[in-house]
Amino acid sequence: MEPTFSYSTLDKTSRYEQFLHDFMPYIADEHEEVSVMANTTAALRQAFGWFWIGFYLVRDEHLVLGPFQGDVACYRIRKGRGVCGAAWSEATTQVVPDVEQFPGHIACSGSSRSEIVVPLIHEGTVRAVLDIDSDTLATFDDTDRKYLETLCKHLCENLYSN
Ligand code: SME
Repeated sequence: MEPTFSYSTLDKTSRYEQFLHDFMPYIADEHEEVSVMANTTAALRQAFGWFWIGFYLVRDEHLVLGPFQGDVACYRIRKGRGVCGAAWSEATTQVVPDVEQFPGHIACSGSSRSEIVVPLIHEGTVRAVLDIDSDTLATFDDTDRKYLETLCKHLCENLYSN
């Protein structure tokens, strides 16, 4: 049986610490991008229960929809467009407390209220972004940024270093 990543009694910091402790060994022997990303979204969903969790993959001039958990989403995003496109073009994490205040935000779902997008950067190049949407305002802060950046750093080492 596969492990579960359910930590409902823990506060946010402890939850991230436990998540990284449990999840990183779980993907250590697998390097297939789609598979690892798919299980990452499932595990994050179990651990945190956010509304939408997914990866967009850099393919030529676009971000293309990758593995995700949540509602049907848009297939392609141009560089610099929306929150995901900004994370790609600026190669930095975007924390958006209110998506309606973000110029050019792309509304895949009317339920999204706040968002964080973390780029996966390997040797200076953005290879993908991790996009997480919440149905409540101001869900994400510097704690989320710190731990999700750590997660994405580990994912990059696991997926792109060979
Ligand atoms: N809101 C994102 C688009 C992707 S969906 O949220 C799944 C953006 O503005 O880039």
